[in-house]
Amino acid sequence: MARHLITSAIPYINGIKHLGNLVGSQLPADLYARYLRARGHEVLFLCATDEHGTPAELAAAKAGKPVAEYCGEMHDVQADIAARFGLSFDHFGRSSSPQNRRLTQAFAARLADEGLIDEVEQQQIYSPTDGRFLPDRYVEGTCPNCGFEDARGDQCDNCTKQLDPEELVSPRSTISGATDLEMRATKHLMLRQSAMKDRLDQWIDSKVDWPVLTTSIAKKWLHDGDGLQDRGITRDLSWGVPVRRGDAEWPGMEGKVFYVWFDAPIEYIACAQEWVDAGKGSDWGRWWRTDQGADDVRYTQFMGKDNVPFHTLSFPSTIMGSNEPWKLVDYIKSFNFLNYEGGQFSTSRGRGVFMDQALEILPADYWRWWLLSRVPETSDVEFTWETFQVDVNKDLADVLGNFVSRITKFCRSKFGEAVPEAGSYGPAEEALIAELTERVARYQTQMDAIELRKAAQELRAIWAAGNEYLQAQAPWSTFKTDPDKAAAQVRLALNLIPLYANLSAPFIPDAAAKMLRAMRVADMVWPENVPEALALLPAGHGFEVPEVLFAKISDEDRNAWSERFAGTRD
Ligand code: 2FM
Ligand code: ZN
Repeated sequence: MARHLITSAIPYINGIKHLGNLVGSQLPADLYARYLRARGHEVLFLCATDEHGTPAELAAAKAGKPVAEYCGEMHDVQADIAARFGLSFDHFGRSSSPQNRRLTQAFAARLADEGLIDEVEQQQIYSPTDGRFLPDRYVEGTCPNCGFEDARGDQCDNCTKQLDPEELVSPRSTISGATDLEMRATKHLMLRQSAMKDRLDQWIDSKVDWPVLTTSIAKKWLHDGDGLQDRGITRDLSWGVPVRRGDAEWPGMEGKVFYVWFDAPIEYIACAQEWVDAGKGSDWGRWWRTDQGADDVRYTQFMGKDNVPFHTLSFPSTIMGSNEPWKLVDYIKSFNFLNYEGGQFSTSRGRGVFMDQALEILPADYWRWWLLSRVPETSDVEFTWETFQVDVNKDLADVLGNFVSRITKFCRSKFGEAVPEAGSYGPAEEALIAELTERVARYQTQMDAIELRKAAQELRAIWAAGNEYLQAQAPWSTFKTDPDKAAAQVRLALNLIPLYANLSAPFIPDAAAKMLRAMRVADMVWPENVPEALALLPAGHGFEVPEVLFAKISDEDRNAWSERFAGTRD
């Protein structure tokens, strides 16, 4: 038994996440956490909402609410949807927590003491009318490239050109509309990531088992162009972690907050403190401090590829630069993107299927299976309603669901609702048990390696093996000539149900629980020994025929959904 710390990239607070966000971090992290718990490991699985930054402020303004109130409400909404998707976080924290505020300020103080923070003077747009400096997103104007009149200070939405706010023609404040903007000098803090370059380089080089997607992105940022750049870690916003040097004021930094990407990963640690403060755990240092036992922990992070630079370079700069005994990540699992019907999922444009909408039309397990079995591990993947329908109908309804329903109904009709006693296993049964033993070992190997598509493929093959056995042995025919032999076949097939439930639970927890309930098995127990697990239900053990586990998706449903989700969300 080992100890595993697992974190999922923390979703932005501004709005409900789409399926592309879900499959890129939270869902695969949940699969892995559930699997490791099932194998008897001690797991701490953490996630939180990422609540700072301009997008949060702007979303709150759009909703007409104070930002703290907006974040509080959206946190609860996201927590509720996550629970309904079966995401089994040990704690779902908030980057705006007091724990994260203190820890972020403490890290900044440490980094400054280590000489890794520079105070630099910059010219920045100031709005006398608003009485404040304006961050990029608070300035709009005409794009110097295409003439679009509503270009933002960081990017033109019309021609996609990345911009600096001072490049805009006729700039105006998005807060007041004021146009009397001027350039003024102001101080900001820069994290000297460049000073960490060699340590980071060596560290990444030592991670020979990491996915290529992760290391190639890290290497690119370390070596392309001028190499790793120093990074501004402060912003002129009121919502965020106030810039302080630990408990002390930071002269010249009044009214500024830390950049959201500085405090967000620190929330991984603060979240463990929140977990303790919420009374759910007793010792966060055991997970995060190498001087308090965290050396024994294996720490795995899950994220989309766009987050990789922040987790391979920026956050490790914070951790290593602090020169304190914090736990560094052991393995970074990153994912490509999920696209939606020939284009991208988009939160700002409301394109694609969002988590709340997904659950309105089908239970979580349908989505979990499709997303996890097609997880964008090696390349971008496209969600289409057609592949979704085909996969659900085939894997879940025809293979798994049909197996369970067919064998329980057949047993009920010929032997009653209890495991039949007569007959003994012959070569076909021995062969099935041997095949499953091999397949389960392979499935475990893939899950241990977080090779999720291969693991899903193996699980599908495990389900199919049961169906093929039933098809070939056909107890309904055997019964006519040799009822004892049919009884033995049924006994084995019924025993496959709890085996399947336990193996499948990380992917489809609700269906797995239903299967176990129907077979009157109280606890999930991982089949460490397959032959033994297949003798779990003794002769005479009662069961019920479960309700339909997975309904097929009709062409009508598919067409209706594809039409409903063709436009943008209102
Ligand atoms: O890309 C995102 O959704 C970010 N909110 C992820 C932050 S992960 C971390 F740094 F905490
Ligand atoms: Zn433009």
